[in-house]
Amino acid sequence: MSHPFDVAELAASYANKSAQDILKLAFEHFGDELWLSFSGAEDVVLVDMAWKLNKNVKVFSLDTGRLHPQTYRFIDQVRSHYNLSIDILSPDAAALEPFVKEKGLFSFYQDGHSECCGIRKTAPLRRKLATVKAWATGQRRDQSPGTRSSVAVLEIDGAFSTPERPLYKFNPLAQMSSEEVWAYIRMLELPYNSLHESGFISIGCEPCTRPVLPNQHEREGRWWWEEATQKECGLHAGNLIAKI
Ligand code: ADX
Ligand code: SF4
Repeated sequence: MSHPFDVAELAASYANKSAQDILKLAFEHFGDELWLSFSGAEDVVLVDMAWKLNKNVKVFSLDTGRLHPQTYRFIDQVRSHYNLSIDILSPDAAALEPFVKEKGLFSFYQDGHSECCGIRKTAPLRRKLATVKAWATGQRRDQSPGTRSSVAVLEIDGAFSTPERPLYKFNPLAQMSSEEVWAYIRMLELPYNSLHESGFISIGCEPCTRPVLPNQHEREGRWWWEEATQKECGLHAGNLIAKI
């Protein structure tokens, strides 16, 4: 990107454009420097759309060490299906080992998910994003009424930017519904995580994700023992703090 662009203006003018148009905008400005953050769930739609626009698209996944076996299989399936090299990011052993030694493997059920997510997700993400100019996520407004209802299609990342270095965050699927995402997956016969066949909608780490019952909101399957307003793990902490 040769010069900064007006994020608020672009976010407003792209608010009702298609996910593909938003990705095109991202590639126009950042080219191969745009990174997609892929969780191994229905955000495969984002990978598919981006790959169709740019075969060199860069993708990373945060391997918390606690994902379902099905999710690991699926991430690898996507890797070979699109012939992508996916950066798989691991937690820092020097932070993880003392934490697990002191608190065990399931401390989040007692004292909340933020410490474990901080070590297994947020710190590796911070390390990655320190080298990145722009990233794109699959978060959508309909995923969480409490925290994502006003996610913009493009924003300055409120959690990982620094005063010297703005980080641009694209959310191309922001205005898509779960129904639309699934219509896309089925229509184009994309590969999907087999957990979706067992009642899982939103998929995160194995101990912190469960299937939902009919008509339960998908977010109720995540960190179900905690308050709905707190259900962000640090990846999208900007949703919980004032927008820049
Ligand atoms: S989370 O913050 O609550 O875990 P969610 O599962 O809704 O996020 O996914 C929203 C978007 O966050 C995904 O589309 C993806 O871009 C990013 N994301 C979530 N988990 C991961 C992960 N393990 N690795 C990479 N990106 C992720
Ligand atoms: Fe740890 Fe659960 Fe967060 Fe995964 S979702 S990093 S297991 S607290």
